[in-house]
Amino acid sequence: MKVLIVGSGGREHAIAWKVAQSPKVDKIYCAPGNAGIEEYAECVAIGAMEFDRLAAFAKEHAVDLTVIGMDDPLVGGIVDIFEAQGLRVFGPRRNAAILEGSKAFSKDLMKKYGIPTAAYESFTDADAALDYLETAGFPIVLKADGLALGKGVLICNTLDEAKAGVKEIMLDKKFGSAGNCMVIEEFLTGREVSVLTFVDGKTVRPMTSAQDHKRAGDGDTGLNTGGMGTFSPSPFYTKEIDEYCQRAIFQPTVDAMASEERPFSGIIFFGLMLTEDGPKVLEYNARFGDPEAQVVLPRMKTDIIDVFEACIDGTLDQIHLEFEDNAAVCVVLASDGYPVHYEKGIRIDGLENFKGKDGYYVFHAGTAKKDGCIVTNGGRVLGVTAKGQDLKNARANAYEAVGWVSFANKYYRHDIGKAIDEA
Ligand code: AMP
Ligand code: GLY
Repeated sequence: MKVLIVGSGGREHAIAWKVAQSPKVDKIYCAPGNAGIEEYAECVAIGAMEFDRLAAFAKEHAVDLTVIGMDDPLVGGIVDIFEAQGLRVFGPRRNAAILEGSKAFSKDLMKKYGIPTAAYESFTDADAALDYLETAGFPIVLKADGLALGKGVLICNTLDEAKAGVKEIMLDKKFGSAGNCMVIEEFLTGREVSVLTFVDGKTVRPMTSAQDHKRAGDGDTGLNTGGMGTFSPSPFYTKEIDEYCQRAIFQPTVDAMASEERPFSGIIFFGLMLTEDGPKVLEYNARFGDPEAQVVLPRMKTDIIDVFEACIDGTLDQIHLEFEDNAAVCVVLASDGYPVHYEKGIRIDGLENFKGKDGYYVFHAGTAKKDGCIVTNGGRVLGVTAKGQDLKNARANAYEAVGWVSFANKYYRHDIGKAIDEA
């Protein structure tokens, strides 16, 4: 069969790698893709938001299945456009992708269906938000309602900071229309864990757990980023916690979406905080995480095409999802200065060192081809993943492999997976 993947990051590289393992697949396209994805897929110069061109391409090339990697096209309704043209596509429709697209929607859903999450209020008026802050406790969390590249969340320690945050989000529109509405919520403490799940509208099948590192600097300092590294599984996500989450969070979320006549088919990524009062939902995403996919997919045993098809056909209850009994760590190699200012177009050396090395992967995020060389083309450049028999082993392997690649402004965190020492 022929598969089209929509997206261009490390996540889509990991998806392309996993799709390529399936004996059912004989051709992969990726739009727009990147220099690393070319190893598995023919990259097509169509942007992820060009829905009509993508659908026309899928028809013209008799694509059997399209997989949407990114949030923007999902929230924008790409799945509805494909379905209307009779094309098979993996991902939630627009009315279900709102689970990620609107924080106010997702918070109201959780409240209505009793799904554990931080206490909150939503506001469409800046003055009302400012009044509310006068009586609030600190720290407090401000969230722009819409998509903001993972940067629309502000944790404020004082009233002055929070007032400035409301101004940035709602009046200065730092995140554009994502800030027309905002959520102000209780600050939670605990360990964070990401659980990605496959969903077919009624059944939910969790993948193995992972943990992201969102801050730019060692020791969780510096600015928030798209993610500087991940490890999987999380040793803090125990069997008991998993049972609770399946019963009190995952299935109720899927049932709630069905009750609201917004059946969810695709991936629900549960961003959880393991608090003293039990696990609570921090956020929902409607897609694989980036760089969570880069540690979860290399450990997945099941043919991903079977799972994608079961999600579309509503037969996920017949799938036995299996993961390897090992661990993986991904260290993101970024351009120095990310997420603010950084140079691009710098030559990358050493990528060939990964060839033929079982259990080691280099997923491309921001790369391009220039004069026959691979050069940097973004803030997050590469995701170096390694597996190991346990987390400590995987971490040692990943940091060894980090040394195999070089580019002049290479920057990375040195403490990805350090928390596992406390487990
Ligand atoms: P989100 O995009 O909603 O996942 O938020 C980004 C990050 O902000 C999360 O990964 C957490 O580290 C942090 N965060 C979000 N909501 C809260 C909260 N209610 N309490 C504490 N930290 C939070
Ligand atoms: N790594 C976090 C995300 O993909 O949203």
